[in-house]
Amino acid sequence: MGQSLTQKILASHLVSGDLEQGNEIALRIDQTLTQDATGTMAYLQFEAMNLSRVQTECSVSYIDHNTLQTGFENADDHAFLQSAAARFGAYFSRPGNGICHQVHLERFAKPGKTLLGSDSHTPTAGGMGMLAMGAGGLDVAVAMGGGPFYLPNPKVLRVWLNGQLSEWVSAKDIILEILRTLTVKGGVGKIIEYAGPGVKTLTVPERSTITNMGAELGASSSIFPSDEQTLRFLEAQGRAEDWVPLSADKDASYDEELRIDLSQLVPLVAQPHSPDNVVPVSDLATTPVQQVAIGSCTNSSYQDLMRVSQILKGKHVHPSVSLVISPGSRQVLTMLADNGALTNLLDSGARLLESTCGPCIGMGQSPVSKAVSVRTFNRNFKGRSGTQDASVFLASPEVASACALTGYITDPRTLGTSSNVDYPQQFRIDDSMILPPGDPDTPIQRGPNIQPLPLAPALDNTLDLPIILKLGDNVTTDDIMPAGSKILPLRSNIPAISEYTFHKIDPQFAAKAKDLKQSVIVAGHNYGQGSSREHAALAPMYLGLRVVLAQSFARIHRANLINFGILPLTFVNEEDLTRFESGMILHLSGLHQAIQTPGPFALTTDNDANPILVRHDLTERQAKILLAGGLLNSTKAAY
Ligand code: F3S
Repeated sequence: MGQSLTQKILASHLVSGDLEQGNEIALRIDQTLTQDATGTMAYLQFEAMNLSRVQTECSVSYIDHNTLQTGFENADDHAFLQSAAARFGAYFSRPGNGICHQVHLERFAKPGKTLLGSDSHTPTAGGMGMLAMGAGGLDVAVAMGGGPFYLPNPKVLRVWLNGQLSEWVSAKDIILEILRTLTVKGGVGKIIEYAGPGVKTLTVPERSTITNMGAELGASSSIFPSDEQTLRFLEAQGRAEDWVPLSADKDASYDEELRIDLSQLVPLVAQPHSPDNVVPVSDLATTPVQQVAIGSCTNSSYQDLMRVSQILKGKHVHPSVSLVISPGSRQVLTMLADNGALTNLLDSGARLLESTCGPCIGMGQSPVSKAVSVRTFNRNFKGRSGTQDASVFLASPEVASACALTGYITDPRTLGTSSNVDYPQQFRIDDSMILPPGDPDTPIQRGPNIQPLPLAPALDNTLDLPIILKLGDNVTTDDIMPAGSKILPLRSNIPAISEYTFHKIDPQFAAKAKDLKQSVIVAGHNYGQGSSREHAALAPMYLGLRVVLAQSFARIHRANLINFGILPLTFVNEEDLTRFESGMILHLSGLHQAIQTPGPFALTTDNDANPILVRHDLTERQAKILLAGGLLNSTKAAY
């Protein structure tokens, strides 16, 4: 029996575990990336483990999330990260150089390698034939130190692409169609592998739009083969030597398969407030639009913005629309400047933003109240734009540009002109904003915003925990630990940022949690969906959260809970969720034995003596982490 592409890379990086059976495998990690919102924690954790130099082939620290400097906090963080990268042996991509995933694709990603990033859209590099996964900063810190990355043994879902996209239909529409079909839960526990004759029609940046939004499917990763298109991209980036051909064996078998005929696709849009709420653009054709935002790690490549420029050339943005554009990298921006495309954008009335995440992470450009905002981004959770009552629609750069011109949701096929652009033979290469690893004696700059890391307590054998919150399905990491321009600057200061925990759901949460000292949350399905933001585990831990009891968890968040000493439990009978209310006390006893023993165990509540069966599904390794009070404590003990 042949191997899938995924199995080949897993097998060549396997440190422990069994790919045929078993729950958990451990992989050697070749490259890591961090961004500033999670990177300060990752480097503080690396330092707290008494590690001295990164052990990977390459680790890169990017500044892209929070570049506004309205106070000392971000500047402190950037100075800390620059000095830490130099000292510990990582590359440092300076603010303004671009969004981590775009720059990583351009300058570092290599087919056949593994990449672990403290950002949930790290699988973007799967467009290069890399096995790229998102994780919490602590897992990335361990990988930087040469430790393996543990993940549940994944299933492999093959998406077979036939045919070729029609004009005005783009890679974004492919992934929106997959989201429409599989939903935001469709990729959980899976790696999505693309194959079929349609693959060769897609360039590396187009493939990366698709692998980027595999994160919205809940997939552990998404990957394309490495072929002539991959070589073409690497040659144009001056990195032909990094190319290796890679594909699945012809007789490889897969756990699941989905088939898509590219020629049948039409321009699509994801409606508020979920990326899988997808309909044809033509269904919404009379909806007025107040804002259009083009950019983010999903759709800000040179090819994307050249298409936008072509559509906007010689025209003007509708007077009722605010159009903002953030090129994905300095490479993209300077190439647009060199060839005149930037002038087309500016002449049309577009506002140019920095090459950063910007509005995608709620850093500026919040839409007007009750606005419709059409964005080329990957997420449209309620409130993420910074305007609670805004309606965010996700679409391709072509659709977004058409909306900017007409002032309502517009099928770009009605525009008439061509959407084809030439692919560059040569990208503009200037790595002067990427600082190479520095001297191991570099002093670390630590301003007042860099506070020591709180450590979790070891798990008690007996816990009596008040239920501080009872929540429904799909609680996001944004719900748990909101981002935005007020909160993000506090990311290196856990006592300060924890004041905002669950702020959107219960503004009194932090005060209540401190009063209770220890607590538990009960919730529905897919708790912690959304991002790798480990503050969504770290801040609740700091406030005394000891257990989350849910119907199911998002993969990265569950791993983060364990890493920060919070016990994730699920119901044996899902309907038992109805037996819990806020304010009840949960009694857990014999926990040490229970979490080291496979299978369910019972807990009780103060007003229901009937035991309720729950399960932990922890591996032996994870049980040890919890007993030690989190990964930092247990890794510290191991080094
Ligand atoms: Fe940044 Fe948004 Fe991507 S926050 S890394 S552009 S998902």
